[in-house]
Amino acid sequence: MLHGPNLNLLGKREPGVYGSVTLEEINSLLEQEANLLQARLSCLQSNHEGVLIDQIHSALGLHNGILINAGAYTHTSVAIRDAIAAVSLPTVEVHLSNIYRREEFRHHSYIAPVALGQISGFGAESYRLGLQALVQHLRKI
Ligand code: DQA
Repeated sequence: MLHGPNLNLLGKREPGVYGSVTLEEINSLLEQEANLLQARLSCLQSNHEGVLIDQIHSALGLHNGILINAGAYTHTSVAIRDAIAAVSLPTVEVHLSNIYRREEFRHHSYIAPVALGQISGFGAESYRLGLQALVQHLRKI
């Protein structure tokens, strides 16, 4: 699970948009879901594009898939998209908010074309749904 920039501030950050759930709560919800699915999960948050790219590279051989909320990098980062394409690991993109109901600059995702799919708009539940979708996909292939 990769969390991008500003997501460390969840709970305090624009609660009207992102709700009151904290990143720690999202990670523990995901840990619980991973246990139910009998899957292993590791979570990392970074505000730095290069750190996220390094983590995507090092996922190769270590992890079977990637769940990512790239935050604002979703809309700007060709480099994160290229990293996902390079490692070719099944990737699910998640967002707390429905990015298509928000400002126009959020309507475009560089990640969506290299992702299996995208879940957007269900708050913390987007992460749980994303993990379920990723694990189900991995069990089919
Ligand atoms: C976000 C949506 C992005 O547009 C924004 O920059 C974020 C959070 C979401 O989860 O809704 O940081 O990815």
